Amino acid sequence: YMVIEHARMRGIRVIPEFDSPGHTQSWGKGQPNLLTPCYKGDVPSGSFGPVDPTVDTTYKFMESLLKEVKFVFPDSYVHLGGDEVSFACWQSNPNVRTFMEKMGFGKDFTKLESFYMESIMNMTAALNRTSVVWQDVFDYHERIPQDTVLEIWKGETYQAELSRMTKAGHRVLLSAPWYINHISYGQDWRNSYAVQPQNFSGTEEQKKLVIGGEVAMWGEYVDATNLNPRLWPRACAAAERLWSDEEKTMNADLAFPRLEKFRCELLRRGIQAEPLFVGHCKHEYDGL
Ligand SMILES: *[C@@H]1O[C@H](CO)[C@@H](O)[C@H](O)[C@H]1NC(C)=O
Ligand SMILES: *[C@@H]1O[C@H](CO)[C@@H](O)[C@H](O)[C@H]1NC(C)=O
Ligand SMILES: *[C@@H]1O[C@H](CO)[C@@H](O)[C@H](O)[C@H]1NC(C)=O
Repeated sequence: YMVIEHARMRGIRVIPEFDSPGHTQSWGKGQPNLLTPCYKGDVPSGSFGPVDPTVDTTYKFMESLLKEVKFVFPDSYVHLGGDEVSFACWQSNPNVRTFMEKMGFGKDFTKLESFYMESIMNMTAALNRTSVVWQDVFDYHERIPQDTVLEIWKGETYQAELSRMTKAGHRVLLSAPWYINHISYGQDWRNSYAVQPQNFSGTEEQKKLVIGGEVAMWGEYVDATNLNPRLWPRACAAAERLWSDEEKTMNADLAFPRLEKFRCELLRRGIQAEPLFVGHCKHEYDGL
């Protein structure tokens, strides 16, 4: 509540993501029978895979979780994830295979994933919340509730994906070009300015469906020791790109002094923002 309220007082909305059915290993520790037991031959191997989409208890649990999410997070959007689901464990499990047969899914596990995602998107709609899902869900599945927002994370093909998703009438968020947990030598903040989220082949109506973007800072190599320097000031570059007139903010050379000044403001407030390049802040020389 502290985070939500702190953000609200600054005009910022907190939208939670509860990613499933993949990326849920930690959920399994607290919630028995939620994850799919993987098999080795005829016997359980002792390891677990994605959420088990074949049992009623899963949907009861997801419903109570989403109700709690609705209660805690006032925002009208909820991110349901749906990315990077590995099928090997589902495939190994005889109960899952029986369920696949019963549902007429054949051997196509993307159908099983779709069935699960559709169920939780329906639950979310019934709770009067709008779902956001990662692009994987769209890539596997045509029948997505129309008001679902799709988010693009795969870098190589994002312009083609923008065309396809907006052609299908979906609203889209673009994250792929702003994965700033990826780092490289040099002034990589410049890349943030080169992105034009609406520069893809499509009609004006399609372009209006691109509702924004998201900077991503995934945690594999980031914790409290390096979060601030890695996030700032590079996230500011993406923010300016998304929130300001595109024509006036495309040029990274012209942006440099603005961003440099902004970084000094962050430092002055005690936020350990990393340097953009060689230089100094005026306040660092005051009194010398
Ligand atoms: C559903 O959500 C919308 C947007 O947040 C809100 O305006 C509306 O009052 C809600 N409807 C119900 C029945 O709660
Ligand atoms: C989701 O809702 C739609 C529309 O009401 C319905 O046709 C569909 O069968 C539901 N899907 C699942 C998996 O419950
Ligand atoms: C849009 O992107 C294309 C290729 O990716 C590029 O050639 C073109 O200059 C861009 N359009 C604008 C208005 O910058």
